Amino acid sequence: MRVLFVCLGNICRSPTAEGVLRTLAAREAPELPLEVDSAGTAGYHVGEPPDPRMRRAAARRGYDLGGLRARVVEPGDFERFDLILAMDQDNLQVLRRRAPAQARERLRLFLEFAPESATAEVPDPYYGGAKGFEEVLDLVESAARGLLAHLREQLRAA
Ligand code: 4NP
Repeated sequence: MRVLFVCLGNICRSPTAEGVLRTLAAREAPELPLEVDSAGTAGYHVGEPPDPRMRRAAARRGYDLGGLRARVVEPGDFERFDLILAMDQDNLQVLRRRAPAQARERLRLFLEFAPESATAEVPDPYYGGAKGFEEVLDLVESAARGLLAHLREQLRAA
């Protein structure tokens, strides 16, 4: 079960999703054979660790994002990952254009796994205030729990 999270810069939302899913899976679903990664559709921040504001907000909830480094989505990702989860519609559209036809059904919005959320997209927190980073964490935690339930169900059905 290979999951790739995708946002624009790979320094705020998608590394948070990567770190949160990895931590929650280790704690709550260690039976899942899970591989998690993240990438951006744009290359502005390649090689950089997650944004310090995002890192601090995540650390306050027990998620360590410090070891992650930004990278761009590459063609091989469309072969390698079973689920490619975009943080918003803009990035989903970019992925749809870049993906080969046979990979398109593996592209989804991450918040499909948090149907109770008031929004379908994780808002970009980069140019906003501190509240935006907390909102990213709230949405990502909900969707990560929903995704874990979905993956458990898949494992059971396999
Ligand atoms: P992310 O946030 O897509 O959640 O990593 C952003 C990071 C950087 C920029 C935009 C969004 N930027 O314009 O540099």
